[in-house]
Amino acid sequence: MAKILITGGLGYIGSHTAVALIEKGHTPVVVDNLSNTRIDVLEGIEKITGVRPEFHQLDLAIATDVAYLFRTHNDLDGIIHFAAYKAVGESVAEPLKYYNNNLTSLIYLLQEIAKGQRDIPFIFSSSCTVYGQAKDLPITEVAPVVPAESPYGNTKQIGEEIIKDAVAANGIKAIALRYFNPIGAHESAAIGELPLGVPQNLIPFVTQTAAGIREQLSIFGNDYPTRDGTAIRDYIHVVDLAEAHIIAVERLLAQENELPFEVFNLGTGEGSTVLEVVEAFERVSGMKLNYRFAPRRPGDVIAAYADTKKVNEKLGWKAKRSLDASLASAWAWQQRLGKD
Ligand code: UFG
Repeated sequence: MAKILITGGLGYIGSHTAVALIEKGHTPVVVDNLSNTRIDVLEGIEKITGVRPEFHQLDLAIATDVAYLFRTHNDLDGIIHFAAYKAVGESVAEPLKYYNNNLTSLIYLLQEIAKGQRDIPFIFSSSCTVYGQAKDLPITEVAPVVPAESPYGNTKQIGEEIIKDAVAANGIKAIALRYFNPIGAHESAAIGELPLGVPQNLIPFVTQTAAGIREQLSIFGNDYPTRDGTAIRDYIHVVDLAEAHIIAVERLLAQENELPFEVFNLGTGEGSTVLEVVEAFERVSGMKLNYRFAPRRPGDVIAAYADTKKVNEKLGWKAKRSLDASLASAWAWQQRLGKD
């Protein structure tokens, strides 16, 4: 059983991954700077697993914090690196904040791995944003990486490049996981997404509208060349996504990787339109959603969904949870948040 550092481990995907690690018998060491989450997520993890993970409030973009972490933890078996800023719009307004935070922390972590005597597998949180509007759908991992639409997206592209070079030069082993659209929450509703302010992403906006926090959902664009005119995405349950991280780190620990740096798509392989998501939400919640059509959102692609053949075959991982189940869990979580 392995001791795994989870950076950003109190964030949305990080917290679900901490739960999945504990459930597989591993020991997470959780680090978070609490810039976009709350300390009580630790209680949520404990409620689900019965284990309160070791936690350190540290900022991995600060050299002394990283040095402290590795000085006090020379027994780490692996690192799953989530800690990053992730708001696309904010990254356009404040690009330097994004480049500094997302890339500095990545470089510091890789430097520590390169310095160490032991092999520490590294799992990187990447995004399907690297593909932009892919020419061929579904999107395979060999689809070209195109110039990013936002500084946020660019930090994922540059991040992958940095890892590739560090792997080649420093003997590091790494896997980049390119997420499609993570949604939903743990079935217990003890942990989930905590969007600060007005949500940018579809599902939190939908659940907040249903809860009466927002008046109306704007559907950005109904003139796309798709089956109903709204944009298509591959919505993947966050618990399925979390489980893939454990498989990825175990693959590197068991030295079952075929290359020192591998890249996998994490999606369901199914594309859903925004209107299909709204309909599915109405079905599982039994509510009518107040929505209107609005102009397209700049930077949005028409359609993106994953080809999952590589990840199915090589990681033996497949998304198990349906869109309805994902939306039901997101709604249960929203209702739980309303009671806090
Ligand atoms: N949408 C709406 N109304 C909203 C919010 C979203 O209609 O209020 C639409 C978007 O236009 C898009 C779809 O819902 O068609 C999904 O939008 P999200 O913002 O939930 O997700 P994105 O696909 O835009 O973004 C996701 C990740 C980003 C990542 C990006 C890469 O959240 O981190 O994919 O494509 F950069």
